[in-house]
Amino acid sequence: MNRIEARVKVTGLATYAAEYPVEGVTYACAVQSRIAKGRIKRVDGGQALEMPGVLAVLSSEDPPRLAEDADPELALFQSREVAYRGQLIAAVVADTYENAHAAAAAVRVDYDPDDHDVRLSADHPGLYRPEVVNPGLPTDTGHGDVEAGLEAAAATVDVTYETPVLHNNPMEPHAALAFWDDEGRLMVYDTAQGATASRDLIAATLGLPPERVRVVSRHVGGGFGSKGTTRPQAVLAALAARAVGRPVKIVLTRQQMFDVTGYRTPTIQRLRLGADPEGRLTALEHVAYEQSSTLVEFAEQTAVVARVMYATPALRTAHRLVRLDVATPSWMRAPGECPGMYALESAMDELAYAAGLDPVELRVRNDAETEPDSGLPFSSRNLVACLREGARRFGWEHRDPAPGIRREGEWLVGTGVAASTYPARRLPCKAVATVRDGDFLVRLAAADIGTGARTALARIAASTLGVAPERIHLELGDSDLPDAPLAGGSMGMASWGTAVVRACEELRRDGKEGRADTTEEIRSDAPLARHAFGAQFAEVRVSAVTGEVRLARLLGVFAAGHIVDATLARSQFIGGMTMGVGMALMEETLTDAEFGGFLHRDLAQYHVPACADVPDVEAVWLEERDGALNPMGSKGIGEIGIVGTAAAIGNAVYHATGHRVRQLPITPAKIL
Ligand code: MOS
Repeated sequence: MNRIEARVKVTGLATYAAEYPVEGVTYACAVQSRIAKGRIKRVDGGQALEMPGVLAVLSSEDPPRLAEDADPELALFQSREVAYRGQLIAAVVADTYENAHAAAAAVRVDYDPDDHDVRLSADHPGLYRPEVVNPGLPTDTGHGDVEAGLEAAAATVDVTYETPVLHNNPMEPHAALAFWDDEGRLMVYDTAQGATASRDLIAATLGLPPERVRVVSRHVGGGFGSKGTTRPQAVLAALAARAVGRPVKIVLTRQQMFDVTGYRTPTIQRLRLGADPEGRLTALEHVAYEQSSTLVEFAEQTAVVARVMYATPALRTAHRLVRLDVATPSWMRAPGECPGMYALESAMDELAYAAGLDPVELRVRNDAETEPDSGLPFSSRNLVACLREGARRFGWEHRDPAPGIRREGEWLVGTGVAASTYPARRLPCKAVATVRDGDFLVRLAAADIGTGARTALARIAASTLGVAPERIHLELGDSDLPDAPLAGGSMGMASWGTAVVRACEELRRDGKEGRADTTEEIRSDAPLARHAFGAQFAEVRVSAVTGEVRLARLLGVFAAGHIVDATLARSQFIGGMTMGVGMALMEETLTDAEFGGFLHRDLAQYHVPACADVPDVEAVWLEERDGALNPMGSKGIGEIGIVGTAAAIGNAVYHATGHRVRQLPITPAKIL
């Protein structure tokens, strides 16, 4: 089955947030702070207001009305305090895009700057222990005696890994188009990973009841987490539309996206591992150091992977956070699990060498019967099968473990492996299914952010109703449809699919209409450890002359429950793995210590993999039915593809060169 929206997408007919034709539309352009910390003394919009076509200048000189408890990242122009360089501090509205941008450059801002602090370190005096880490998990956990376990170990590893600030770069920039109708209801076309959540957050920010706001995002050109929470452009469009009494459109520039659409926190992670003479863990400690802004506490769940992965008599995981004069970090594909697994699986590779064991075998020997941290049984866990199947397909058995000995001309060749995991959660969701013109209409506020969610949901509805998928018509991407959770946390399909199945079952009984609300069903879920697993295998070639790393092969084997649609699933896995290639080899945003803000601010500086960087990437999966999760037996697949990829590549680089790089990305300068 082809994607339902394939034709409108490739013919350019799919309408994205900024593209809706609206009568009398005007354009907003944001003005950003040029200091990292301090106060705004004065915003002078006088010159801008005299420029052609300018309708309004918004700033803290005349703060627009917002809810008092609005999220500080969305509370535009409410405060004169500057929290980070690049923060939105004013905006211009004009009749054209060009006039708005020209006038924004003419807004004069006087500051009273303070010294700023933008540098994360593992001994920063401001480090503290947050109450919880995302999404509400314990900050520190543990059992057994780590020190005794390390003391008794035959082989130990004590290593520190670092990951940089990383930025999501969806093809569609963050955009919004807002207007107020005659009854005072706010309409927002937004780039959102969830129309329901976007509506609720915009309403809460403006101090409106949710029914006074409608958010529509029928097509979204990628998000990866950066459109999972409402971003300031949506609030700005609404405020500006209220100020000028006309529709307002805003599209962030790629440079502005780096400043105000979130980023993956940099991490410093210390791993201490011990193993007995058979390679069984005697202790595992994973401590993560991360940053947030002074505005909001965003505490990423980096070390949680160690709570899931391996059996050990002594386990300690911990997170420490420091609030810096930086923008608030946010979600980026597998937030937490992705950088956490990079460090854990790199350290496991180091332990394999220290213990003289094959790295696949080391992981197999330490497979966990129950979830190490909670003691809960797994709903299903097929990590070992993924490792074995991957080893077979990849040709692992002939591998010589010795590092730095395979050479083809200037190229050093090596292979590496890493495990992968991601939670399999679901959230309450509503859906309505009805008969329409002899076909079937399924409606819910789900989001298709480029994943093919429409198509997968149509298949789920079709198989529940026992009809051809072509007879299912789906409406999604509109907050006026039944409430649905985000496309995020790899929870979308499990959450929406459950509601669609229940609504279609009800339609079969009723004959006319089926309505579902899965709140009660999910509340009665049994306590189990629910996770997808996988194994990533990489082969790299490293130039002994330039230090350049070329990926030769990448294979991912996943155990992610029932796969709803093979074509779409393969795209998700490969997309995640490709993003992991970027993380391993090229992606990095440097923070400007002197002036604050970010130094990398566009795609010329922030490199993401192109097709030529991933010549041979393949994803396969095991047959896995998990009846404990949802009626489809599926696990989420949007994020697990990126988890472990960077470790597999880093481990392959070590195998090729004999040189262990512990700071991503693995650029030529770190090899030579
Ligand atoms: Mo994804 S980072 O959960 O949107």
